[in-house]
Formats: sequence, C-alpha cells, structure tokens
Amino acid sequence: MIYLDNAATSYRKPESVYKEADRALRTCSGNPGRSGHKVSLEAGGIVQGCRRNLQQLFHVGNADELSFGQNATMALNEAIYGIAEPGMHIITSTLEHNSVSRPLENLKMTMGAEVTILPASLDDGIDPDDLRKALRKNTGLVVINHVSNVTGTVNDIAAVGRICREAGVPFLADVSQSAGKLPVDVGEMQIDMLACPGHKGLLGPQGTGVLYVRKGILLRPLLQGGTGSHSEMAVQPLDRPDRYESGTLNVPGIAGLAAGVRYLLEKGIPEVEKRERELTERLLAGLSDLPGMTVYAPKPGKNRGSVFSVRIEGCEPQDASMILDSSFDIAVRAGLHCAPWAHRMLGTLDKGGTLRFSPDMFNTEEEIDACIDAMGQIVQEMGGMS
Ligand SMILES: Cc1ncc(COP(=O)(O)O)c(C=O)c1O
Repeated sequence: MIYLDNAATSYRKPESVYKEADRALRTCSGNPGRSGHKVSLEAGGIVQGCRRNLQQLFHVGNADELSFGQNATMALNEAIYGIAEPGMHIITSTLEHNSVSRPLENLKMTMGAEVTILPASLDDGIDPDDLRKALRKNTGLVVINHVSNVTGTVNDIAAVGRICREAGVPFLADVSQSAGKLPVDVGEMQIDMLACPGHKGLLGPQGTGVLYVRKGILLRPLLQGGTGSHSEMAVQPLDRPDRYESGTLNVPGIAGLAAGVRYLLEKGIPEVEKRERELTERLLAGLSDLPGMTVYAPKPGKNRGSVFSVRIEGCEPQDASMILDSSFDIAVRAGLHCAPWAHRMLGTLDKGGTLRFSPDMFNTEEEIDACIDAMGQIVQEMGGMS
C-alpha cells in the first residue's frame, strides 16, 4: 500500500512507537498520579517523560504548561470554550478546520460572540495587516492555523503572535498540520496557546492530543473531576496540568507519543521538513503536468506543508480516490476535509471538494512516481467523462 493520507493520521510509525505503546500496556498499566505503587508511578513517569519531550520540541518554558487529551479537536475546544466570554470578539481565518469553525459558530449562537474571518491567499495565507486592522477593543482571542489541511498554505504565525502580543490578545495556534513537520517555538512565535494531535506528524497513536497554555492564562476547564489530585476540593484545582487533565489518561497512547516525539527530536525537524518538502514538490510537479488537473497549493518557491489538493477535470474526487485505492492500492482522501470555509475560498465547496495528497518522510521517490503514474492513467481513462 502507498499511504498518502498523513494529514488525516500518520500510518507508518517508528518501531519505538509500537514497542513503547505495547510495553506500557503490558507492564505499566497503572493509573498515573493516583496510587503510590510501582506501576502507577511508572505510568506517571511515562506521562511526565512525554511532557518533557514535547516541552523540548515546542520550546515550552515549563512542562506543566502542556496537557494531554484525546485529539486536536478536544484541545481546540478546551482553549476556545475555556477563554470565551459573552459578547467577545474572536478573529480567525478562512483556512480553519471545523474543530475551530464549529465552536466559533456555536459561540456566536450561544454567547453572542462576534467572529471575524480573515481572508487568505493560497500562496501566503492571511495578511498580518488584515489581522492588525481587524483587532477591536473587545477582541479576546485570535485563533489561526499554521498550515492549511487542504492546501498546505503556511500562515506566518510568528507575525500573528507578534501582533497579538502587542495588542494583549491571546493567540491560539492550531499546529495540527505542522507539529513534527515544521519548526514550532512557542516563545519565539509568541504563541499563548497551542493545540495539536499526537497521531499525525508527532507519530503517536490515535487517541492522543496536546494542549499548551502559557502561564498567566487561566482557562475554564472543559471537563471537571477525576484529576486524582486535591480530592478534598469541591471544584477543579487550579494546578496544572491537572486542571486540564480530567479522567484517566491514555497511557499506552502517550507512551507511543513519547517515542514518536523522541524520534523527531533525534532526527531534527529541519531534516523532516526538508525530506517532506522534496517528496511533496515531486508529487506536486508530476501531477501539475497532467492534462485537466487543477492544483490547490502554494506556487513553487513558496512555503508549504506536506499536503495539497487537486481536482481532475471530469472526474469526481471521490471516484478518483476509490480508483486509487481499489486499482492501485494508494490511500488518499477526497471531500471537504472538515474545512468548508477553505473550500468556499477555493470554489470547491459545492463540487465535492478536492482530492488530497499528504506524503510524509517515510514515503519514497518510487511511491511518489507510482502515484503520479496512477493519476496519469486515471486522467487518461476518466478525464472529461462527466
Ligand atoms: C488543521 C487541523 N486542525 C484540527 C484537526 C483535528 O484533529 P483531530 O482529528 O486530532 O481532532 C485537524 C485534523 O485533520 C486539522 O488538520
């Protein structure tokens, strides 16, 4: 199988990820932070070890500013609902995933939130000047993603961070498509809150997600109880990470995630970025040359993530994806990719969306070329049919 759906979840993991998840499940299945016996302490050690790896990856000041949840959607909801106040003005972009856009729509209906959606260009994302102009007295949150999960467009989140810090407005960065793939430094980029999954570029198992909340920002917790600490308290403790970690954690998942992040730290993010860029640009160039192909990606020479979309004239994305899977054993994703605003921008919202390709560093040149070849055959046989 040629797996090119890493923007949804990474499929191939380093051997250490499988080993550590298995080891945790077999020998460290105690409940972390609950009991004083050996397996509970070992489970706690795994969780803390993963926190430290993530601290190093994202250049976080204190590991306790990081908390674990199920996925990026949960982390984004924790941050958005945790900070929202009635009538608050929130700025976001047209490139966002619906794990941002749906909570914001909901806040409009339930809390009278005012939401400004910044336009974005395919090549460069949002214009930081638009952000500056959109700020109001009651702006209480800016939430912008680093890399679009539809086009691979990269937003200049360091510029966003600078503008937000100057204005004193908290900045939530959705780094779901860049974590483990592009450098992310919460200090340098002046990120106040960060959300990402553990199961995509961080190479961990599914059921893992990460939330960073800078000291000085206190969120209302989304879930309450089950922290294992401060059981004498009637209300959720203020201490981190417990405040944002209710209920028993996914220790086997976090053990695998710790190994995934360790692998990335040893390899170095610039190395990952370089390799993924090479493969993505090779695929992009090969597909761009095919007749009837519309490509939705930043133009050559621009910053990009390792994901982009296409449409084949005369062939629905869903049909192309099914043929790639059934006839060529190539896994990609078709549709709207949970990002309707981005498809409205591209003009693909009412057309079945796009066909999305997302290589990772474990793909080979041979796999990329086989995919270009398969797409060439699909274009020849299906192109211009409907
Ligand atoms: C930009 C972006 N944000 C959020 C998410 C949600 O991630 P998860 O499935 O881990 O909740 C995704 C997943 O595709 C994404 O691409």
